[in-house]
Amino acid sequence: MPNRRRLNLSKNSNDPTKRSGSENHSIAKALFGKCGLNWMTLLGISVACLMGLSALFSVSVVLQDIQSNSLWALSEKAEILVNHRQVCEAIFMLASLNFTYHSWLRSSVFPASSGESHQSVGHDEDNSATELLATGFEMDSCLSRYQSKLYRKESPYKPSALLLSKLRSYEALHKRCGPHTLSYNTTVELLRSGHEHYEVSDCNYLVWISFSGLGNKILSIASAFLYALLTDRVLLIDCGTDIGDLFCEPFPDTAWLLPLDFPLIDQFHNFDQKSPQSYGNMLRNNMISNSSSSHPPWTYLHLVHDYDDYDKLFFCDQDQSIIQRAPWLIMKTDNYFIPSLFLIPSFEQQLNNLFPQKETVFHFLGRYLFHPTNLVWGLIARYYDTYLAKANEKIGIQIRVFDTDPRPFQHVFDQIVACTVKEGLLPELNAKEEVTNLGANQKLKAVLVTSLSSGYSEKLKSMYWDNPTVTGEVISVYQPSHEGYQNTENQIHNKKAWAEMYLLSLTDVLVTSSWSTFGYVAQGIGGLKPWLLYKPENRTVPNPPCSRDISMEPCFHAPPFYDCKAKTGVDTGKIVPHVRHCQGMGWGLKLVDN
Ligand SMILES: *[C@@H]1O[C@H](CO)[C@@H](O)[C@H](O)[C@H]1NC(C)=O
Ligand SMILES: *[C@@H]1O[C@H](CO)[C@@H](O)[C@H](O)[C@H]1NC(C)=O
Ligand SMILES: *[C@@H]1O[C@H](CO)[C@@H](O)[C@H](O)[C@H]1NC(C)=O
Ligand SMILES: *[C@@H]1O[C@H](CO)[C@@H](O)[C@H](O)[C@H]1NC(C)=O
Repeated sequence: MPNRRRLNLSKNSNDPTKRSGSENHSIAKALFGKCGLNWMTLLGISVACLMGLSALFSVSVVLQDIQSNSLWALSEKAEILVNHRQVCEAIFMLASLNFTYHSWLRSSVFPASSGESHQSVGHDEDNSATELLATGFEMDSCLSRYQSKLYRKESPYKPSALLLSKLRSYEALHKRCGPHTLSYNTTVELLRSGHEHYEVSDCNYLVWISFSGLGNKILSIASAFLYALLTDRVLLIDCGTDIGDLFCEPFPDTAWLLPLDFPLIDQFHNFDQKSPQSYGNMLRNNMISNSSSSHPPWTYLHLVHDYDDYDKLFFCDQDQSIIQRAPWLIMKTDNYFIPSLFLIPSFEQQLNNLFPQKETVFHFLGRYLFHPTNLVWGLIARYYDTYLAKANEKIGIQIRVFDTDPRPFQHVFDQIVACTVKEGLLPELNAKEEVTNLGANQKLKAVLVTSLSSGYSEKLKSMYWDNPTVTGEVISVYQPSHEGYQNTENQIHNKKAWAEMYLLSLTDVLVTSSWSTFGYVAQGIGGLKPWLLYKPENRTVPNPPCSRDISMEPCFHAPPFYDCKAKTGVDTGKIVPHVRHCQGMGWGLKLVDN
């Protein structure tokens, strides 16, 4: 089966690429959170439900050490193979189990009359007119929503009133049209029946297909969401292997995960450039046109980096008018395509009003949409509290080397040192003095390194151990994890990757690698304009080694170069002042403020 994935539920895996220990209970823990109360009483429900689960997975369930309140664990000697759909089913199943548990907890532990006094199970206050984030969530369902304030400085940017009201009306639309509503059910029926003629529904949808690495996923979800906002569609997320484990629900009283009985869900992994249902191919084969009155109920939008000239017509107004007729749009992309939306005349005005400051687009969308689940938040908060909280200044260095050789390179290390020292981010070494003054008011700088290899942080650490600094500052270097290689679909890898992106976003100063979507996510959510390490050529240190980025926006790596009106090629980085070519990737496009 092409979409089989490995789900490691084993406690004692011998595979060194898999992490062992408590993380393997991730699904269970993620869903149950920190519930230490009355597990004995709950056992009845759990065991009954788990038997259903174990039948599904053929997993044996071990109930461990109940007296000391440690949670039950899923355990099995061997790894088991489950496909995409089963992983999602398990998540959904555990979610409903969790629901049962929490309803029970609330009714028995906090009787209705005393409910008000318990903040942790209460709702947040309604300040929806001034706040970016939606209100009306249960506080303990997503701690990062409330606790992130304690970890990061307030954003210097303010969302426009128009953006806030647009988000509030989107939330209402999503609630009205979301999964399992009457409108949703009716619109899904169109797909099942396959009828070509239909009444225009009041609910239209955009389905985002899980695809590519985590950084790309985050950027493409943000792009799809903005497109959904502009076209009054409801965004539904294919949960893939891990989306539900990584991010809290962003919209109140509804769900953004696509239900698993969605008719086309098993075809998602087959969709590609050649799919006959893609807009580009339907256009090429004259299956679709402006004049025809009937329209298929769904259209596949192929916006992956390998898309062709027909697919790219997505970015033309005339084609948008055709595309918008389908009640279901199914999108696969690995791109941050927002810069090119600013070049579509019918969206341009609205976008300029929503985002008077162009470089805040991903900053706001990212902070609005992506809240780490309690499990990931635990990784972030614990790491921060342990290593970063005490520092006077925090410097994030995100290293991504695009080379098949995984070993750390001297030229990359030299580039990092050249950049950080030249730009005054890290102090120079004091070659003359053996010992510098160790005063009581010494400044502590924490350096957070993320890299697939541990080599760079080790070297940096010894450099500042072996030598004093000219400023007398104390430099401590930390690296949360190193995986050796990028593992796109591994769930634990992605949890750690998300935690690392988030930790980088909590730093004061950021240094990132060109071409890396991981860095884009960190800089955007953090509101940080990074120093950009240029991509080395011929394994030599580039000159200059880095420069300050022109904006904190992500770069669109595969933009179209087409003038829809003139029907000729055009340099889309030269049409308006706020859409320019990226530094370090000359053909890419990004939003900038002047
Ligand atoms: C479990 O249910 C509670 C209460 O409904 C909710 O707050 C929490 O987020 C749920 N946990 C997960 C991981 O879905
Ligand atoms: C929509 O369909 C689901 C089953 O697919 C059903 O459980 C739900 O009640 C339906 N919703 C409405 C409002 O009819
Ligand atoms: C389709 O029709 C609309 C409105 O009649 C028009 O604005 C648009 O340019 C047409 N698109 C194409 C591809 O001809
Ligand atoms: C890299 O090396 C090749 C061959 O030695 C040379 O042609 C090219 O100009 C070099 N590129 C850079 C950026 O130095």
